[in-house]
Amino acid sequence: MLDTLTIDVHRATTSRLGELDLANLEFGKLFADHMLSVEYIGGEWQQPRVVPYGPLAVSPANSALHYGQAIFEGMKAYRQADGGVGLFRPLDNWRRLNASAERMAMPTLPEEIFMQGLRELVKLDAAWVPGAAGSSLYIRPFMFATDGFLGVRPSNTYHFGIISCPVASFFTKPVRVRFEQQYVRAAPGGAGYAKNAGNYGAAMLPSKLAQEQGYHQLIWTDASEHQYVEESGAMNVMFVIDGTLITPALSTSILDGITRRSVLELARNWGMPVEERRVSSREIVAAIQEGRLTEAFGVGTAATVATIATIGHEGHDYDLPALTDSAFARRVGAALEAIRTGHAPDPHGWLVTV
Ligand code: PLP
Ligand code: COI
Repeated sequence: MLDTLTIDVHRATTSRLGELDLANLEFGKLFADHMLSVEYIGGEWQQPRVVPYGPLAVSPANSALHYGQAIFEGMKAYRQADGGVGLFRPLDNWRRLNASAERMAMPTLPEEIFMQGLRELVKLDAAWVPGAAGSSLYIRPFMFATDGFLGVRPSNTYHFGIISCPVASFFTKPVRVRFEQQYVRAAPGGAGYAKNAGNYGAAMLPSKLAQEQGYHQLIWTDASEHQYVEESGAMNVMFVIDGTLITPALSTSILDGITRRSVLELARNWGMPVEERRVSSREIVAAIQEGRLTEAFGVGTAATVATIATIGHEGHDYDLPALTDSAFARRVGAALEAIRTGHAPDPHGWLVTV
């Protein structure tokens, strides 16, 4: 291990900031000038470096490409009311990265490397943090195997990196989703709770089929009965039924979302009844038909709070009532945005200034 951590910084000689079109931000397209790079060799993390954003040279035999030893995180830096930059719950992302690493037999990353590397990188690229409402700098930490070895065993060497890109809201209007009752995202005992690349690769075909049918995303259901709600493509899902906030309980097949955690905490603080439990697609459809379901929405870092307009189930589309101004999804979305941008007090200590 490194005794006192320093980050080597190699600044880019020219900036691509001039290419940034703030009026037309496309998610994940234009990356900030720098990236963090750290190698894991001989059982130890090496000197972290901040270098100009650019391609990495990898062995074509690495176990990330062949066997999926690859994990990532998604988090955001927000322009603050005072002009500074704040990170939302970064330690939660660090902990989840390490939980994913353990599941994929990859090394965990010390807190100092993650936090100091992140701080150094975001400070250097602070000009890339947009300020318009709903926009932010999306930050993508990632780790993958680098051994040039085709044998099926955990790699001995790894790369940890962080890249970032300015983004606006992921969904610009209420989304259409449908329950997926054929394909499965994750099974109990699998790796659904981890943020490993394979979970996303295997979701692409079912998601594409749903998109061809006019839906934005799927709502995954459980692997054995295809009845119980799991989560959506890049979001956890929540429902308001008879004034109670209901969301599937966490399990080994659901990603423990940091937005989910934050929304549940705010709801409980506000005295709203909250239930984390099994929720079936039939219960949702019945509650819609009986007029008891007033809200359905997805929550996630990229998606923020995404209102669901329509839910498809067994070939029928159920339209949800339009949200009122006092809808929970609206209020909690605004409250989160105010905390993240330093426009509201942060009693939970969620914001870490850079
Ligand atoms: N579920 C999946 C599959 C995701 O990819 C994400 C996005 O990160 C989420 C849920 C929401 O998690 P978070 O709120 O930590 O971004
Ligand atoms: C995130 O919200 O950070 C995600 O991981 C979603 C991403 C796959 C687009």
